[in-house]
Amino acid sequence: MKLTRFFHLNISALFIIVLGGLLLTACGTSSSTSSGGSTGNSGTSSCASPPKLTKTTGLKVGFSQNENTGPWRLAETKSMQTEAAAQGDQLIFTDAQSSASKQISDVDSLIAQKVDIIVLAPLTSEPLAKAVQDAKAACIPVILIDRDVDHKLASPNKDYVTFIGSDFIQQGKRAADWLIQKTNGKAKVIELEGTTGATAATNRKTGFDNEIKTASGMTIIASQDADFNRDKGRQTMQTLLQAHPDVTAVYAHNDEMAIGAIAALKAAGKKPGKDVIVVSIDGEKDALNAIIAGELGTTVQSSPFFGPVTFQTIKQYAGGQKLDDWIVVKDQQFTIDNAQQNLASSF
Ligand code: AHR
Repeated sequence: MKLTRFFHLNISALFIIVLGGLLLTACGTSSSTSSGGSTGNSGTSSCASPPKLTKTTGLKVGFSQNENTGPWRLAETKSMQTEAAAQGDQLIFTDAQSSASKQISDVDSLIAQKVDIIVLAPLTSEPLAKAVQDAKAACIPVILIDRDVDHKLASPNKDYVTFIGSDFIQQGKRAADWLIQKTNGKAKVIELEGTTGATAATNRKTGFDNEIKTASGMTIIASQDADFNRDKGRQTMQTLLQAHPDVTAVYAHNDEMAIGAIAALKAAGKKPGKDVIVVSIDGEKDALNAIIAGELGTTVQSSPFFGPVTFQTIKQYAGGQKLDDWIVVKDQQFTIDNAQQNLASSF
């Protein structure tokens, strides 16, 4: 009698343990967001790599912008907002105000709002890999636009879906080629760099500097960060001009800094376009007007119009399509030959 009771108790305990185990397993695989199978934002996720997106319409899309000042950023944001509205999707927008730590917490707040997918325009490549990993841990897919993150810390088709953006190395090379031709391969160049740690700055520098080395008469006499900002471009140029009054060319990693440099050159009594040849990247309206005025030599386009390609990519991903690691945005180049006719479509 005692033996039968002992048996009953143990069989009941075994039953409870097995049932508990089954329940735990079921929770681990069935609790899901609209994006992909997950164990929630616990840091020990078991979702796909990269997380899946199963919803195709009525999406809640988080867009983390790294800053929202200057014509280029404003045009990019507007393009995303316009396309989200055209697709009938909701866009939740955050502005990191040029702070990597704010951008990481912006992404965390998009995760907390349970968006279906995050579109991230990372400020800098190393710190923002963390934001990608945070979203992945919460089983929310991420698409990077405009700038990439460090592939040693997060990689496409694994930690994030894909990177959509221009070939920054090629942009730098094209600016250098134009300058070498214009100056017959002889110039003393001041380089104004974009934000340190941003792939747009790192790669535009690599592309330009490597190409300049192919012409023996070209020298980069100074190279300094001016943060992709017009006024910092002006101030940095003003300072560098004092140490290097013999400068004959300026390469700015974006138009805003080039326009700032043009102002500094004029203030120092130099004629941009004659005494000093200025080249840059972006293709904004003020730059095209500067080309028409003869003060800027060329600007290599870097399109900010990411809305259509980003939403098309989101829908392709939701439809189960395998995407390339890098969706390359094709850019043109503006000079005196085509600046006027591209003015109306510029930003
Ligand atoms: O990442 C793209 C660059 O960022 C653009 O050239 C620049 O204008 C912006 O700040």
